[in-house]
Amino acid sequence: MKYFITGAAGFVGYHISKNLLEKKHEVFGYDAVTPYYDIGLKNRRIENLKKYPNFFFEKKNLEDKSALLSSFSKFNPDIVFHLAAQAGVRYSLENPSAYINSNIIGTFNLLEILREIEVKHFLFSSTSSVYGSNDSLPFKENDSSDKQLSIYSSTKKSCESLIHSYSYSYNIPATIFRFFTAYGPWGRPDMAMFIFTKAILEDKEINIYNHGEMARDFTYIDDLIESIFRLSTKIPQLDDKYENDSLSNIAPYRIVNIGNSKKIKLMNMIEAIEKKLNKKSKRNFLPMQIGDVKETLADVSLLKELTSYYPQTSIDEGVGKFIDWYLKYHQV
Ligand SMILES: NC(=O)c1ccc[n+]([C@@H]2O[C@H](COP(=O)([O-])OP(=O)(O)OC[C@H]3O[C@@H](n4cnc5c(N)ncnc54)[C@H](O)[C@@H]3O)[C@@H](O)[C@H]2O)c1
Repeated sequence: MKYFITGAAGFVGYHISKNLLEKKHEVFGYDAVTPYYDIGLKNRRIENLKKYPNFFFEKKNLEDKSALLSSFSKFNPDIVFHLAAQAGVRYSLENPSAYINSNIIGTFNLLEILREIEVKHFLFSSTSSVYGSNDSLPFKENDSSDKQLSIYSSTKKSCESLIHSYSYSYNIPATIFRFFTAYGPWGRPDMAMFIFTKAILEDKEINIYNHGEMARDFTYIDDLIESIFRLSTKIPQLDDKYENDSLSNIAPYRIVNIGNSKKIKLMNMIEAIEKKLNKKSKRNFLPMQIGDVKETLADVSLLKELTSYYPQTSIDEGVGKFIDWYLKYHQV
């Protein structure tokens, strides 16, 4: 099969590309290698992928529609994983236009291409933060998601909505994943686990928001990749019959949560890092940041029903694997 992967230089895009290349599929990675975080890390990921003869790569942005169209039509993919985005809740307070450009314009450009060039399945990465001010845990796909708290999550929600109308209007089979805090080797330097690990090793203070009264459903990257690969084979059909389905009743479009279905307190995540590093953190407790949600937890009944699989890696095991990679990568 031929897979077109936007965001292949990113954390999730790198892992899914590698997984597919190892299964001998052809992968076309499309990524602008944006400087939002260390481009050295993104370039290292791409170098690793280029070791596979069945990997092709174009360093261009999604806003460049003619470059996108040219790569897309040349490769003629069966399946599209659209993972490229301006990510990050906090940075969206500083630079909203980066989110409008990459996420909304970028997704629109890709959808316009899909009107002309048919694919078997289009898969898009959304986020648990679209549940916004909804505080009834666990989050279920059909729960209300109308009140986002950050510009990042409202661009993701806008994309979900755009994709639904394209799916309906042009019969494009589409699956939306809502990821719950992914982490693991080759992870993002802007995310808490990475920032805390780095600071503890460097004897610096860590900033703990909402005085530590936060919790996340942390999803280990290998579990997330297995989930999205299995979902790519489950092409939404209007006559599907699943008990927990979030399938649209008018379009081949479905939303699926991908989480570990465990609520891990922020302080427990910090303790897991300290235990693995055998070193205590210097804690700086701060108030809640605008845009953050206090807690997340996924209901993964639909994922289980569709794929007979769900993420189960424990936080201690996952943090251990992340830190092993971190120490090796940074030659600590
Ligand atoms: N990692 C998580 O915990 C998490 C949680 C929820 C949702 N998501 C979503 O999953 C997807 C992948 O996340 P990630 O953690 O791999 O993020 P990432 O930032 O590591 O990867 C995104 C990639 O997209 C590329 N990109 C950004 N804007 C672009 C543009 N305009 N044109 C072309 N390329 C562009 C970047 O260079 C980057 O390599 C994103 O859509 C993100 O919003 C991630």
